[in-house]
Amino acid sequence: MDPAVPGTPTDAALARAAELARDFVATLPDRPVHATASLEELRSRFGGPLPDEGEDPTAVVQALADNARDGLVASAGPRYFGFVIGGGLPAAIGADWLTTAWDQNAGLYVIGPAAAVAEEVAGAWAADIFGLPTGVSVGFTTGATMASFTGLAAGRHALLDLAGWDVERQGLHGAPDLPVVVSAESHVTIFAALQMLGLGRDRVTRISTDEQGRMRPEALVSALQAIGRPALVCAQAGNVNTGAFDPLPPIVEAVRANGGWLHVDGAFGLWAAADPARRHLTEGVELADSWTTDAHKWLNVPYDSGLSFVAHPAAHQAAMTLGAAYYVESTGAERDPYNWVAESSRRARGFAVWAALRQLGRSGVTDLVARTSDFARQFAAGLEGAPDVRILNDVVLNQVLVRFEDPSGDVAAGDARTDAVIAAVQADGTLWLGGTRWREQRAMRISVSGWNTTEADVDASIAVIRRIAGEIRAG
Ligand SMILES: Cc1ncc(COP(=O)(O)O)c(C=O)c1O
Repeated sequence: MDPAVPGTPTDAALARAAELARDFVATLPDRPVHATASLEELRSRFGGPLPDEGEDPTAVVQALADNARDGLVASAGPRYFGFVIGGGLPAAIGADWLTTAWDQNAGLYVIGPAAAVAEEVAGAWAADIFGLPTGVSVGFTTGATMASFTGLAAGRHALLDLAGWDVERQGLHGAPDLPVVVSAESHVTIFAALQMLGLGRDRVTRISTDEQGRMRPEALVSALQAIGRPALVCAQAGNVNTGAFDPLPPIVEAVRANGGWLHVDGAFGLWAAADPARRHLTEGVELADSWTTDAHKWLNVPYDSGLSFVAHPAAHQAAMTLGAAYYVESTGAERDPYNWVAESSRRARGFAVWAALRQLGRSGVTDLVARTSDFARQFAAGLEGAPDVRILNDVVLNQVLVRFEDPSGDVAAGDARTDAVIAAVQADGTLWLGGTRWREQRAMRISVSGWNTTEADVDASIAVIRRIAGEIRAG
């Protein structure tokens, strides 16, 4: 059966999938933001025994959409402010559909030449936006977790190599000690990466932070002096709660004096470099050794899509390369993507990143970062006038922490009130945001990352939060 011929089951299934997808995207602004189907409903719809007989592909696509419908979260919509979640730019969604249809294996150049080149170009464009040194190597990962895994693996290679140890061949048993330094505010995925790398989540020195969650450079200096040998240091550009940046220039200086490796987790914060008004936050970032960022957050590429950059391509490649007798490796001019990530066969993620950057252009990325960060300020300004409301962070980027105090001043009562407002806002369905704990107090956490959020969405969301907070205050 020729899939290109209209009227075939293949053609019908793809046409129906495209219709359903377009309908979903078109109705994103009007859907309740949270899922309304219960766990039991979803299990019963999707469940049952595996049928003995196969089905028509269009019927399967339709059944999938019917089962999923109200179990979907409108996280790609304009009023989703939870976690740090972007939507899908139209060109990126289109590129992602094509990526699926093309079904390229982005492991080796020989099985996906266009995929390999799209990655090469999109990676260089992104590195340029961040102001990273020319010649940095890049790996396309599932997200920030695996990007940090990759960057820290490169650092592990480089520092153990300095100590005369080949960690890829010899493993970690009997290896020279490799000190790891993190911030008290390092994202949990840094610890996940350390755990996977055999470096241990708890075998770390934690550096204290200031009231915004920024690493204290003087504490880092003392810790590195006490350690007295090259360490793997993890800094952060963009705290997941406050959006704050570790002060990179003194951190770079301390790590250079120590002879160690500096990894910067900029899962969303690295994109601040695109905005002249916020670029100062990333000052010094180009002097690090490896960097993590996500495309599925602020760049609004559909899941999943992360980027790992390393300033030392040889260490990056040594940490990741597989090499197998039957692989047809490139002779040098071409880039084999598998050399830069943990996977061999994988999705051609570069197409969607390339398309997102082409749709936006340099000025569009600047505008996206500036606009959403301005919306974060609009949130803070619109909420802080309300009774008993306190903004807990300096709104330097796209993150806002809001607390709803109890008039008695009691911390536990303020925690309960804040949680009650968050739960009621989530249940209302107009918007979605989550909660967090910041400096021992509960807080509402707002992250503005979607390309399709408008000023009107922010105003409408502020009105809902204020109304609900007022109702809870009135008892
Ligand atoms: C600073 C930081 N690092 C890492 C991550 C994890 O990203 P991912 O879920 O893409 O692995 C996040 C997610 O919000 C983050 O904010």
